[in-house]
Amino acid sequence: MIVRTACCACLSFWLMLAPACATETPARSPAEIMDILMWNREPVGGPFELIDHTGHTRTERDSRGHLMLVYFGFTYCPDVCPTDLQAIGLALDKLGRDGDGVQPLFVTVDPERDTPERLAEYVPMFHPRLIGLTGSTEAIRKAADAYKVYYAKVPARQDASDYTVDHTAFIYLMDRDGNYLGFFPPGTSAERMVEIIHPRLAEPAR
Ligand code: NI
Repeated sequence: MIVRTACCACLSFWLMLAPACATETPARSPAEIMDILMWNREPVGGPFELIDHTGHTRTERDSRGHLMLVYFGFTYCPDVCPTDLQAIGLALDKLGRDGDGVQPLFVTVDPERDTPERLAEYVPMFHPRLIGLTGSTEAIRKAADAYKVYYAKVPARQDASDYTVDHTAFIYLMDRDGNYLGFFPPGTSAERMVEIIHPRLAEPAR
């Protein structure tokens, strides 16, 4: 069984029970993923090759020289994704010109529905520099595994022909070389993100 609030498909930070009704079983449960992240048991991040919301191929190398904020979610997510993406957009605004040193990325865990066209309508609602990324199911699974993201398609409660996607919703902060610095849990405020990111931006680029 899975515990969640009535309207939200996102797995919250503290809810670790694997869904019994998943139509596709990921290799690791949310609890295992949480454990890896909390105790830094495995590396986080790595190479990816995905398609951005303008239809161009994009890899992690395209963001070298920028801090990266990486968030996995999906555009039909009713609650947690939009809230966290708003916080990311607001944090970038609060950083002002310094925010140009941060590249925000939104990677879909629902590549079937989140085409580049769909992402192109979605990402500008949160920040003009937010880049939406999609790709083949294999490419998305590989990127999610690298970032220790749990996601699984589950039938919608009201209509079994429809589906939603349960997923962990951490916001990953990567340094200018693409190395993992840490994560913000879902629900982190823009102010808190600025507190953490601002000193990192002040460090000289190597
Ligand atoms: Ni979500």
